[in-house]
Amino acid sequence: MAVLWLVLLVGLSTLNLGVFIWAAIHHFLTAEIPSALKHPVKLRFLHCVVLYVIALGKIFEKMKICSMPRFIQFFQDLIIIKKNHNLVVTNMCFGTISVRLFQPKAVSSELRRGIIFYHGGGALCGSLDSYHNLCSFLAQQTDSVVLSVGYRKLPDHSHPCITKDCLNASIYFMKNLMTYGVDPSRVVACGESIGGGAVALVIQALLSFPSLPRIRAQVLITPVMQAVNFRLPSHQQNQNVPFLTNDILMIAVCKYMDIDFSWKDALLNGTYMPLDSWKKYSKWLSSDNIPRRFKSKSLLPEFSGPFNETAYLEIKHILDTEVSPLLVEDKIIAQLPQAFLVTCENDPLRDDALLYKKRLEDQGVPVTWYHVEDGFHGCIFLFDTHLFSFPCSIKIAKAVSSYIKGI
Ligand SMILES: *[C@@H]1O[C@H](CO)[C@@H](O)[C@H](O)[C@H]1NC(C)=O
Ligand SMILES: *[C@@H]1O[C@H](CO)[C@@H](O)[C@H](O)[C@H]1NC(C)=O
Ligand SMILES: *[C@@H]1O[C@H](CO)[C@@H](O)[C@H](O)[C@H]1NC(C)=O
Repeated sequence: MAVLWLVLLVGLSTLNLGVFIWAAIHHFLTAEIPSALKHPVKLRFLHCVVLYVIALGKIFEKMKICSMPRFIQFFQDLIIIKKNHNLVVTNMCFGTISVRLFQPKAVSSELRRGIIFYHGGGALCGSLDSYHNLCSFLAQQTDSVVLSVGYRKLPDHSHPCITKDCLNASIYFMKNLMTYGVDPSRVVACGESIGGGAVALVIQALLSFPSLPRIRAQVLITPVMQAVNFRLPSHQQNQNVPFLTNDILMIAVCKYMDIDFSWKDALLNGTYMPLDSWKKYSKWLSSDNIPRRFKSKSLLPEFSGPFNETAYLEIKHILDTEVSPLLVEDKIIAQLPQAFLVTCENDPLRDDALLYKKRLEDQGVPVTWYHVEDGFHGCIFLFDTHLFSFPCSIKIAKAVSSYIKGI
């Protein structure tokens, strides 16, 4: 028996070591670390860890032990939740959706500002726990009531679970603001990455609920705003920059949208898209809308290769306006509240936010734009981890809280 355990232990350690070495080699062969990024060694180390976890997850998925998203989720929840003595934190369910409420303890004679927060993680990871410290920080710094929404995600749920849950929880919250001591005229919707996309989708959907208080401001931190054009300059320039490399982006998009991975090339090349659809969308989504100074490298054309009808039939649901908030008509955009947009220079999703910025500005919606030259996708997640945080993480957290304080 002891021998069996020993063999198992040695086997597992060898597997672990092997996978880590593979991850490190893969990192050094593929990853690009732009010179503007601070602490490159730390970034490289963290990226190796991410690749290692994903690779192990894939192995376990192949062996039918546990799915890859669940494996990643197991790791992220090891994050340490800091107790903040100035806040009351309550876990609740709105219907079937778990939410977490952060309320300042100090007595206030007035109603407080409300922040509805949707976390990031590409539907693969991210949770109430992993964004707990950021929500605490926002509640404390801005003296607001924060509602963090624990929407459903992969592996059990796919599109449109995120928007559906975020909308549902937000409607419930907006109907009961008084219960939580929130001023109906000062509710901010805030989200990061896929949660930033959810902010845009939810506030568009809320326009059909005129009886509810209006959202006062939208705060989108490095949001996902479209899944139509994956050849924007930022996609091409940052396809190998940690943590959101093109591989990881495509895994998340295909899994969440229930698209078989074999359609990845058609999705990237845009060959699935009928010409008349692109004619319609290009005025909003083409890289012509991106200012010249953001186009550094020589770029591939946005769509290459002939139209592939089989691909279209398989993945046409990705052209839905409920996937890409950038695809709605101008008259909807014109009704949206003032916006704070955070972009990172070294983020493949940078141009999603730049396109949204242009659409809002073209319709007269006030936009405040915060661009971080040394930023990369996902950096805010690490904002208070001391050893693992980056100057850009802290800058973004502070910029967001100071914008919200002005609402
Ligand atoms: C969302 O809200 C509707 C109506 O309020 C309700 O019927 C539905 O069950 C809710 N969905 C979830 C997932 O809670
Ligand atoms: C997609 O485009 C790239 C570059 O233009 C090309 O190398 C690749 O073969 C294309 N793939 C498909 C499926 O058309
Ligand atoms: C359509 O795309 C798929 C996947 O990229 C490819 O295997 C197939 O050959 C393409 N069909 C045509 C007609 O180009």
